[in-house]
Amino acid sequence: MTEHLTIVKHPLVQHKLTIMRQKETSTASFRRLLREISQLLAYEVTSELPMTTKTIETPMCEMEAPTLDGKKLALISILRAGNGLMDGVLELIPAARVGFVGLYRDEKTLQPIQYYFKVPESLDDRLVIAVDPMLATGNSSVAAIDLLKEAGATNIRFLCLLAAPEGVARMKEAHPDVPIVTAALDEKLNEHGYIVPGLGDAGDRMFGTK
Ligand code: URA
Repeated sequence: MTEHLTIVKHPLVQHKLTIMRQKETSTASFRRLLREISQLLAYEVTSELPMTTKTIETPMCEMEAPTLDGKKLALISILRAGNGLMDGVLELIPAARVGFVGLYRDEKTLQPIQYYFKVPESLDDRLVIAVDPMLATGNSSVAAIDLLKEAGATNIRFLCLLAAPEGVARMKEAHPDVPIVTAALDEKLNEHGYIVPGLGDAGDRMFGTK
């Protein structure tokens, strides 16, 4: 991918996102829509996966057929909200290896605090897709990518549902080599670091914790 930021404007993505943003949307619907959107976003984020061919036999004849090349990709969920995005992507790429980065944000400083890190082996040989629905301040996304690079990852993409200009700028400054794929670039952050207009707290909305 050459663009640093790709906004997926597909009508189905935009329609589903509008329903997710609405405050009256139930937890069950929010979760289902997130899974559906994540598959449409996954289509975009994997659009340039390396390919090769192999010889197969159809009922009619032999043919050289396209197939994915290289090591299985690694999907990294930035906990906890990343899991909602990851579930759908995994349905589309069931052979992906899976990792988790546990970060929460300190509500006062908005800085990320790490509490968990477990990722697949040989990250250097894999396309690594880090997923987190909300790219807000960018603090936790940048910290998660820092950790993935320390673990050897060199080919990373970042998949989110919503991005704020502040988060995109922060990522571009810290990790210009990491393309971002999102469904929308919103207006701004509020004083608490929430995306406006946004959709509220993605974790709370998908897990029904508030
Ligand atoms: N995290 C969320 O869940 N929502 C925001 O708006 C920002 C960060």
